[in-house]
Amino acid sequence: MRAVDLIQKKRDGLELSTEEIQWLIAAYAAGDIPDYQMSAFAMAVYFQNMTMREIRDLTMAMVRSGDQLDLSPIAGIKVDKHSTGGVGDKITLILAPLVTSFGVPVAKMSGRGLGHTGGTLDKLESIKGYQIELDKANFIKQVQDKGIAVIGQSEHLVKADKMLYALRDVTATVDTLPLIASSVMSKKIAAGSDAILLDVTVGDGAFMKTIEDAEKLSRIMVDLGKEVDRQTVAVITDMSQPLGQAIGNRLEVLEAVTIMQGQGRLDITQFICELAQIMLRLGGKEVDLAEIKEHLVGGKALHKFEELVAAQGGEVADIYRPVDTRYCYEIKAEQSGFINQLPALYFGHFAMEIGAGRAVKTDQLDYDAGIVFEKKVGDTISAGALVARIYSNREISQKGLTEFVKNVTINYDRVSPKEVLKVID
Ligand code: URA
Repeated sequence: MRAVDLIQKKRDGLELSTEEIQWLIAAYAAGDIPDYQMSAFAMAVYFQNMTMREIRDLTMAMVRSGDQLDLSPIAGIKVDKHSTGGVGDKITLILAPLVTSFGVPVAKMSGRGLGHTGGTLDKLESIKGYQIELDKANFIKQVQDKGIAVIGQSEHLVKADKMLYALRDVTATVDTLPLIASSVMSKKIAAGSDAILLDVTVGDGAFMKTIEDAEKLSRIMVDLGKEVDRQTVAVITDMSQPLGQAIGNRLEVLEAVTIMQGQGRLDITQFICELAQIMLRLGGKEVDLAEIKEHLVGGKALHKFEELVAAQGGEVADIYRPVDTRYCYEIKAEQSGFINQLPALYFGHFAMEIGAGRAVKTDQLDYDAGIVFEKKVGDTISAGALVARIYSNREISQKGLTEFVKNVTINYDRVSPKEVLKVID
């Protein structure tokens, strides 16, 4: 087979066979197909799409491109969770220990942030000493002993996705359903859990901009999971504004702790309880929301989080260390009314530019940098009241601060944001 023929076939809108897809991915992972041909292939998929059969073959070819984890030595139904990316998304830090506090094991591999979106690994690494690397045997042992482990994705897992995702990132081919679905599901299938909760974000700060696209992506991923006997549920969630109050690695750890101490915003607290209920159901446990909330705000989830941090070499006291930055800017409301919009994409980029995220993979992070919103969409505010604090070690120009204020839309239209927009199972 020749890569050029397969690129041409896809470019012309034809369907690739199972053998052709398997050959293409295996050859790419082996280094036999250059990046320029794979980029052309990704662009052909972007414009011509793929059938469900092709997506399934692509996903399984990617799974076969690296190791697959066998979690069967861990007793019980292992549940995994994946978000398609967001701004201020600290959900895993809370959800994983919360679910584990009910005896459902969570063996999780997380990723790093790139561009305007954050990554759980970076947040955990903002805790002094936290080790994101565990070998297979220790990963399994920790889940057996503590019920929870959150580590970085192994180099050997889904090799083709690692290579292809880096390429898509610089060739404007990330936001296409077949490539997102196969990328997410190949990682989840190879990581070995029995059940998967997918958090499919939609809105300004997410890859999926419309609820229709988010539904299509969810349907494809749920079907892919079920076809390989993984119980899979997708929850479509709002990413039109940042999630919760904080954006930035340490600030998000602190917000997660505040939520687990029962002092977080009610909306995000409730949202996490709803996700936990679905994840627990996937793990074979029917628990009512009141009991879940009791574990979340009553200290059980926080206790598990501390256990997780300690097990992975982190300093537990450091979880509670406040940020220490050279500058702290207070952003005040210019008028009274309701907060109407806080565009997630703009604020995600802003946080990235002050060091909370990476523009390119090699950028150094400033763990303490970020934003904390005192008000969110739907809240009332008076002129002159505090909207947000920006923590930064870089000086921000007056122009930058004015632009920030402009992106906080305040008017008299009250909108009532919802976190969970739809559940697809
Ligand atoms: N998250 C992934 O893991 N892959 C994608 O392609 C997009 C989001």
